[in-house]
Amino acid sequence: MKEIEIDSLNSQELYNLLTSTITPRPIAFVSTKDSSGQDNLSPFSFFNVFSVTPPVVVFSPVNRISDDSKKDTLKNVINSKECVIALANTKIVQQVSLASGNYDSNIDEFKKAGFTKKKATLIDVNLINEAPVNFECKVTQIVELGSKGGAGNLVICEILKIHIDENVFDHDNKIDPLKLDIVSRLGLSWYGRTSVDSIFKIAKPMSSFGIGFDNLPNEIIESKVFTGHDLAMLASVDSIPAKKNKESLTLKTEEKHILAKKILKQGKIKEAWEILI
Ligand SMILES: Cc1cc2nc3c(=O)[nH]c(=O)nc-3n(C[C@H](O)[C@H](O)[C@H](O)COP(=O)(O)O)c2cc1C
Repeated sequence: MKEIEIDSLNSQELYNLLTSTITPRPIAFVSTKDSSGQDNLSPFSFFNVFSVTPPVVVFSPVNRISDDSKKDTLKNVINSKECVIALANTKIVQQVSLASGNYDSNIDEFKKAGFTKKKATLIDVNLINEAPVNFECKVTQIVELGSKGGAGNLVICEILKIHIDENVFDHDNKIDPLKLDIVSRLGLSWYGRTSVDSIFKIAKPMSSFGIGFDNLPNEIIESKVFTGHDLAMLASVDSIPAKKNKESLTLKTEEKHILAKKILKQGKIKEAWEILI
């Protein structure tokens, strides 16, 4: 393992290292207004949800590394205490990137990046019509983490109202991640998207918990065939299922493990256990 002392890196190197490792990050596309009513639009990937009741999200505009100055979005929320946070999908991500340009504060990035304004209902900040999700937010707190370039400013926002494109819901009225098609930020110039190949399910009933590695039979835990990934799937059952499949008894131990591994690859945990017991 490479060991890196924080003091050995300058702010830009540290920024590159942190943003290339802590990935993927969702992108808050933040709409604000200055005191003269001028619109501002900028993306921030230092962003996530931190509370449900109340619904709270946080994003962080860092002070500019070049001259330690505060970004326009931060100045606007310090003043107005409100913002709209939209989410970026593949359709609009090029425009989102364009809006991140370091334009003067008198430039309207809605116009610069080709977005349409829509009136919010509870606050005096515009929604982004092309975004699949818009949150109307009030800013409840701003926590400055330092004064130098690169220092974060946690903008703590309570969501007051949610606007969602109805086309992203499936038949059960649940959000389909592929229809929502949210993009994420990785390091440097990389972005990620929610494609069929990049998503998977881990079935785990919330009402129970798995038996854990420590309750797996030795023969399984010591097997050369299974990886940690396979063992975690086997250890996720409430209890080791009762024996059903008699045919598997004729297989040698390693053959059983290879067969069970194949079945695990298809996500069939109970069936894999039937081979093993
Ligand atoms: C996808 C993306 C994510 C970004 N995330 C952040 C971030 O989390 N924090 C930050 O300070 N700047 C971030 N930036 C850069 C800002 O968007 C950029 O500095 C912008 O000019 C700030 O605009 P403002 O001065 O109008 O607030 C990001 C840029 C892009 C393209």
